[in-house]
Amino acid sequence: MRILSIFGTRPEAIKMAPLVKALAAEPSLESRVCITGQHQQMLDQVMDLFGLKAHCRLDVMRPNQSLNSLTAALFDAIDPLLEAERPDRVLVHGDTTTALVAAMAAFHRRIPVGHVEAGLRTGDLRQPWPEEMNRRSIDLIADQLFAPTAESRCNLLDERLAGQIWVTGNTVIDALQKTARRIDDDDHLRQRLDNRFGFLQPGRRLLLVTGHRRENFGEGLRHICQALRRLAQRADLQIVYPLHLNPNVKGPVTEQLGGLHNVHLIEPQDYLSFVRLMQRAHVVLTDSGGVQEEAPTLGKPVLVMRDVTERPEAVAAGTARLVGTSTQSIEQGVSALLDDEALWRQSAQACNPYGDGQASARIVDALLGRPVSEFAVRMPQAAQPLAVPGQTVPG
Ligand code: UD1
Ligand code: UDP
Repeated sequence: MRILSIFGTRPEAIKMAPLVKALAAEPSLESRVCITGQHQQMLDQVMDLFGLKAHCRLDVMRPNQSLNSLTAALFDAIDPLLEAERPDRVLVHGDTTTALVAAMAAFHRRIPVGHVEAGLRTGDLRQPWPEEMNRRSIDLIADQLFAPTAESRCNLLDERLAGQIWVTGNTVIDALQKTARRIDDDDHLRQRLDNRFGFLQPGRRLLLVTGHRRENFGEGLRHICQALRRLAQRADLQIVYPLHLNPNVKGPVTEQLGGLHNVHLIEPQDYLSFVRLMQRAHVVLTDSGGVQEEAPTLGKPVLVMRDVTERPEAVAAGTARLVGTSTQSIEQGVSALLDDEALWRQSAQACNPYGDGQASARIVDALLGRPVSEFAVRMPQAAQPLAVPGQTVPG
């Protein structure tokens, strides 16, 4: 069976890397990888780290391009690729424009599609935008749905979709566990990574920030920056914000926060360095999808700058909290974790609602028609799993 994995952005590459490795290890499968180039620099960092080889590279990225021009470029580039490769199955990941177009292009050619990270929902097409529409559409197309959690399976069942569903855990946990172990087991590597962050001061606690969602461009990002300016006045805190290369993020954030002595705006980090930063963080503040899944595994309290999340499991477990994008609620959320030791301890309990490191192996089993031993969460004693998606900000 010839399987063609198509991806193009940083998070897709991190989450597909363990699966691509597992596919390559199966003698009965011919695994091919196509990189669309939706991201260039940020994707290459991941390919290099995981030693991934692309059989084909498209070149669709243009500086600050619109979603429609990206979509058109992807259709133009992916269709001839499908014609040339003639795969038995296409695998796509998550909810990016690359994933949506690859799934639609395969559907038009009657090639079956497997969706990795199926079933995530906020229930609101406006957030995350356009990703909520992308993933719903991909789930409609796919005949194999690899749902990371029981909640995501429930979402798919509610929509009465035709595809077969397996609960696999999220492949990001496969990637994270391997990467964190590599750092933990190698003193020399750890030291080398720490040397990159020589600007960090031992006496100050680290707030690690990422923020790049399109629905937060403009006002949302301004509020986030205002909150960070206020928090930067604390003498016990230092802030590190690796900036997404999207000019709508990099420009405004640099304008508003550049030059503050304890706010470090840095380039997008390779995955090893970013995992090290997460390990060293006291609190993580983010609107990213993947980081919401990783921080709980590392036992880091995570504040999510969104009004609604498609990843309610960590909120239910008490490791994550939604703070929206108002200046006040972000500032209060971070301050509470800095000032209330008991609250921080409670939120810092490591939990793994998103996976156990075996997601890729389960997906390969499903692809090959072998029995799949599905992922089941072991929640901490006090935690109650949420039955409903799209947890909203309390109050
Ligand atoms: C995209 C995904 C989003 C995902 C994010 C991860 C869609 C609609 N959105 O976000 O779901 O969370 O990737 O990062 O697919 N750029 C570079 N070099 C790079 C990457 C980006 O210069 O390596 C710049 C380019 O100007 C590009 C712009 O960033 O046009 C935006 O890239 P894009 O893929 O559109 O990113 P997002 O939509 O922000
Ligand atoms: N990440 C990284 N370097 C960075 C910031 C994030 O490697 O400088 C990783 C992070 O650990 C996570 C993924 O990138 O696995 C998240 O990507 P992003 O926030 O771009 O997208 P999202 O998850 O929101 O789709």
